[in-house]
Amino acid sequence: MTSYTDRSSSSDAVDAPRRQLLATAALLGVAPSLLSACASAATTATSAAVGARRRLGPLEVFPVGLGCQWRQGTAPGVVVDSYSSAFDRPSAIRLIHEAVDRGVTLIDTAEAYGPFLSEEIVGEALQGRRDRVVLETKFGFDIDPVSGQRRPGRLNSRPEHIRAVVEAQLKRLRTDRIDVLIQHRVDPQVPIEEVVGTLKDLIRAGKLRHYGLSEPGLQTVRRAHAEHPMAVIQNEYSMLWRGPEAAVLPLCEELGIGFVCWSPLGMGFLAGGVQADSRFKTAPVTDFRAISPRFAPEVLPANMALVDLVRDWAQRKSATPSQVALAWLLSRKPWIVPIPGTTNAAHLHQNLGAAELRFTPAERAELDAALGAIRIQGDRLPPAVALMSGVEAPPKP
Ligand SMILES: NC(=O)c1ccc[n+]([C@@H]2O[C@H](COP(=O)([O-])OP(=O)(O)OC[C@H]3O[C@@H](n4cnc5c(N)ncnc54)[C@H](OP(=O)(O)O)[C@@H]3O)[C@@H](O)[C@H]2O)c1
Repeated sequence: MTSYTDRSSSSDAVDAPRRQLLATAALLGVAPSLLSACASAATTATSAAVGARRRLGPLEVFPVGLGCQWRQGTAPGVVVDSYSSAFDRPSAIRLIHEAVDRGVTLIDTAEAYGPFLSEEIVGEALQGRRDRVVLETKFGFDIDPVSGQRRPGRLNSRPEHIRAVVEAQLKRLRTDRIDVLIQHRVDPQVPIEEVVGTLKDLIRAGKLRHYGLSEPGLQTVRRAHAEHPMAVIQNEYSMLWRGPEAAVLPLCEELGIGFVCWSPLGMGFLAGGVQADSRFKTAPVTDFRAISPRFAPEVLPANMALVDLVRDWAQRKSATPSQVALAWLLSRKPWIVPIPGTTNAAHLHQNLGAAELRFTPAERAELDAALGAIRIQGDRLPPAVALMSGVEAPPKP
């Protein structure tokens, strides 16, 4: 079973704000606890920098991470997300600086995001800040290392491919180690024991610290964890998609694996970015929601019931909808960490404020009952993407 005692190198990352607090307290000649109390009563920004940490398997991180999933836009210098937001590379770098300086420690990206571009931006942004973060990235798609094109067959977790990808990632990320390397999707051609065996070798070589799986089958998790303790599972989880509650979260609890939620804001839906009549663009770049059944014109009006509920709770708690959505995730288990994506510094500040938002047990019960009464219509993902979730790796020969 995964030990909860290994906090070694990540403690560098998570202790930095604490050291900052102690140093500031010493400079001001006040007790750290007094400074901490003043800080938490002050702005969210300040409290984020000294906020509580939470366990994520063997790691400790700030409760809200940052997702860095960007690709090249059609105009030179423009960087776009998977939806409708765009900015430029210097702004992306400033956003990461802002996040880390405000206390964020978990930075998530992937080889496939761009491909390569997101890792390059993260690598550049983390120069001088590398030791303050837990750097999480992913491998697993069959991407040509030069052209960035995905090869037919799409997935590739063969040992020699993993080793080559990690070398390229270390260069792009401008670092000597990856803190958490996640298999983006289970490869139905490669036994998980071979994958984890390769990751174990890379851990021994000091190139990785921990590993995780994204959207894996349950038996694959058990087999992987038996081969080498897994740090995290990264699955979609939010008020919009509660699939992990049935079996994945209980398995994480049983095995001591941390849980990272992707699309914790329901692809912007829960944060108020979608209306009943929203239509998503398919050109020049496709907004992923344009091909996702739960955002189709015929189901959106009914699904807006969830947006209304989140907005009502935001008013009640004097918070933003994004904060309610993220704080609800944080309230589920102490080892759950969302990684909202954003291109907007004001949104980033709001999202970090979720770490301060609490629900009383009575509020939790009321909110859960209201959520339980809403039935989301339309499938979570386009069929071809959904096929890659919950896959079991083939048996060891
Ligand atoms: N493992 C996997 O397979 C997988 C799959 C998908 C994503 N991920 C990871 O998960 C991360 C987050 O997921 P995601 O980006 O798909 O979805 P998300 O975090 O649920 O939503 C992102 C969207 O919400 C908007 N937003 C963020 N904060 C907001 C705020 N405070 N107010 C209003 N709108 C706000 C963003 O627009 P603005 O830019 O305007 O803020 C963006 O359109 C990704 O960056 C990536 O690292 C992993």
